[in-house]
Amino acid sequence: MPEPIFLGVNIDHIATLRQARRAPEPDPVHAAAMAERGGADGITVHIRSDRRHINERDLEILAATVKSHLNVEMASTPEMLDIAKRYGPDNVTLVPERPEELTTEGGLDVAADPQRLADQIAALKDAGMTTAIFLDPDLKQIEAAAGLEVHQIEINTAAYSDACETRQAAAIEEQRLIVADVARAAAAVGLRVAAGHGLTYRNVGAVVRMAEIEELNIGHNIVARAVFVGLERAVREMKELLARPL
Ligand code: PXP
Repeated sequence: MPEPIFLGVNIDHIATLRQARRAPEPDPVHAAAMAERGGADGITVHIRSDRRHINERDLEILAATVKSHLNVEMASTPEMLDIAKRYGPDNVTLVPERPEELTTEGGLDVAADPQRLADQIAALKDAGMTTAIFLDPDLKQIEAAAGLEVHQIEINTAAYSDACETRQAAAIEEQRLIVADVARAAAAVGLRVAAGHGLTYRNVGAVVRMAEIEELNIGHNIVARAVFVGLERAVREMKELLARPL
């Protein structure tokens, strides 16, 4: 049987709901435990400079209580690197961050400053963490990433996900092929490959069929479904969709 894809459940929006009222609940720490019960292989959270959802208190407790695997997404800034070293998650995914953005809008531009990224990756490794970088599906970025000692790349699937919402077969196929080509190119240079952003119960199937992709990080759509069916079931239903075809 082929290995199912590793599912990292992003629980940021449980914290978004809490922060809407600055209330104690819903608590992302409880969400992490429920997601694990539903079959999550890992928990992903994004700590932003404005702390609009996840904060240090969450990281401290999650680092002590997550039993599966904790992946923290963060900007590649000195403040965030200190936070990573303080809480020591299993993996850090470096992402770009623009203050007014609703969500991460694109991947890192690795070619723009490879030395700075290489230094940050080395510092995280020295502190015992694995590392990933979030990249747009662009072969130039893969080439640049191949020169870094990074453990994994995460392909930004936002353009594929947006195309799926248009329901135009040609546009969907074009974006699917771009993600598939980039996944193949990354695996060919020895990078481990994850993907995420905008993935849904409706559009995840085509990504599951890309053999090079080992991990998906999915948040908004799972939390949206959890509002109606509960988080444990929402995670279980997503996990069922991640079984590789025989
Ligand atoms: N991967 C990265 C790097 C992200 O920044 C996000 C959003 O925080 C996700 C995956 C999950 O995206 P979504 O919430 O659209 O599933």
